[in-house]
Amino acid sequence: MNKKEKYRELLQQVEGLIADEHLEVSVLANVSAAIKETMGFFWVGFYLVHNGELVLGPFQGSPACYHIKKGRGVCGTAWAEGKTMVVKDVEEFPGHIACSHLSRSEIVVPLFDNKGVMRSELDIDHTEVGTFDEVDKEELEKICEAVARQLYQRD
Ligand code: SME
Repeated sequence: MNKKEKYRELLQQVEGLIADEHLEVSVLANVSAAIKETMGFFWVGFYLVHNGELVLGPFQGSPACYHIKKGRGVCGTAWAEGKTMVVKDVEEFPGHIACSHLSRSEIVVPLFDNKGVMRSELDIDHTEVGTFDEVDKEELEKICEAVARQLYQRD
């Protein structure tokens, strides 16, 4: 299976997994597990906007930092700019927050509510430089849109 095909199956799996559940912690836990299992990335998880900063949410992988301020690191920059960040080589990203020295590339995708306010972020790290490209960006944005519709856009 090529990457696009894997993502197609993953999106279907995620849509099935989240269809009947609305509790944020549970949905995000299963979505991070599904992505990690299907795609084999090193670290997959969510940061949640809470009390004006990003806090660590459900994830799969090694322990990570709890708090990230707006504008700091890749996650904080994605929040400040309100858009997906694809980082080929984290060592070349100014201010990158290294939770694990094994992480070499990263993608962060924001999830918005129906007022356009960012509520959480999907953060994925991998051990090789240049893991994430336009296909990952497009497909992970589709997954995040489905999750955001279920969790944050219901009223
Ligand atoms: N590397 C991220 C921090 C989160 S961890 O990778 C899990 C950053 O620079 O925002």
